[in-house]
Amino acid sequence: MAAASGAAAIAAGSNSTLAFDVERVREDFPILKQEVYGKPLVYLDSGASAQKPTAVIDAMREVQETCYANVHRGAYYFSQHLTDRYESVRKTVAGFLNAGSDQEVVITRSVTEAINLVAYSFGAGLSAGDEVIVTEMEHHANIVPWQLLRDRTGIVLKVAPIDDDGNFLLDAYEALLTPRTRLVAVTHVSNVLGTVTPLKEIIRLAHEAGAKVLVDGAQAVVHGKVDVQDLDADFYGFTGHKLYGPTAIGVLYGKADLLKEMPPFQGGGDMIRSVSFAETTYADPPLRFEAGTPPIVEAIGLGAAIDYVNAIGHEAIAAHEAGLLAYATQRLQQIEGLRIYGSAKEKAAILSFTMEGIHPHDIGTIIDREGVAIRVGHHCAQPLMQRFGVPATARASFGLYNTRAEVDALARALEKVKELFG
Ligand code: ALA
Repeated sequence: MAAASGAAAIAAGSNSTLAFDVERVREDFPILKQEVYGKPLVYLDSGASAQKPTAVIDAMREVQETCYANVHRGAYYFSQHLTDRYESVRKTVAGFLNAGSDQEVVITRSVTEAINLVAYSFGAGLSAGDEVIVTEMEHHANIVPWQLLRDRTGIVLKVAPIDDDGNFLLDAYEALLTPRTRLVAVTHVSNVLGTVTPLKEIIRLAHEAGAKVLVDGAQAVVHGKVDVQDLDADFYGFTGHKLYGPTAIGVLYGKADLLKEMPPFQGGGDMIRSVSFAETTYADPPLRFEAGTPPIVEAIGLGAAIDYVNAIGHEAIAAHEAGLLAYATQRLQQIEGLRIYGSAKEKAAILSFTMEGIHPHDIGTIIDREGVAIRVGHHCAQPLMQRFGVPATARASFGLYNTRAEVDALARALEKVKELFG
């Protein structure tokens, strides 16, 4: 994915370019017209969940109003029609990630489910003493499934470190790889630090050691173009709701030869070839991993979200967000006592910070009254909080609809916090 190159974007000095007009983009998101406590909503929590454009809301309503039915099951018109549309989302996702085939795209309910699927199913081939490497900046969703696997099978879990700026330490990681390393589970973009990990190198080194790589792409697909073939990723997961799509929909990309060898994750309808009380045989991937009625309406919403992002273009989004990040970094650095966590060389539009002597929860509560919504807490990354010796941080995360005026509103609200705490 494209890295943020803030300085150039800041020099442009404007919210709009010919290619990207943020005010026009904002028109697509009805919620952004809302006020809270009589103030315009300043939504800076897209890293937790992004707002939805009308295109997504409409697509989901249209399906339910005009052609809803279950998929893969009915002989009648609407069921076949919606099956075609559901399957065309698989193609849309394959194109979005540049997967080799849509059969490498498993529809899940979340990226969390995608990672649990790999931990359970790929993990079934691991045994005591095999090694899985995660990193210090993983979300709990990319830690706990591996701990559950460790408890079941006796695998060894290793942790690749980062430096104080949040840079991934390639040499230290390389030193952890051994002939027993079976999998590296790594985030593409840290949800706390914004660090973009050097994925190509991470994957190349893992492959040289004979290990596979699973990437948590939840924060990455939002900020830049991802090409799983170019990365040579073995597994890549992301979630719909951070990509301007609905909740309860996610994706697992997996290389065809790997998925083919993996046992089912959950049992139920749709994932079988034949069932008798004596024996059950399983469908080929991806359906082998899609037990039960899938999130049909949510998949339609995800397809609409990807179409929406594609229509705007990754480059335009990345450039806009890089400008916002650079501007926000500069604005917040001017606030005395404010410390920013994460200044990696490649960084997405996520800004975590603390303010001296003020608990992040107080920051969040006070600026909420100014209409500014940010996330405060451990961000589902408690080991990372421990790494930096803090219980929590405040985090502003930017989406394609945010503006410099909103960054100014954040900075003004934070100055108010400082005044209040004297
Ligand atoms: N993983 C989401 C976040 O970072 C919820 O806020």
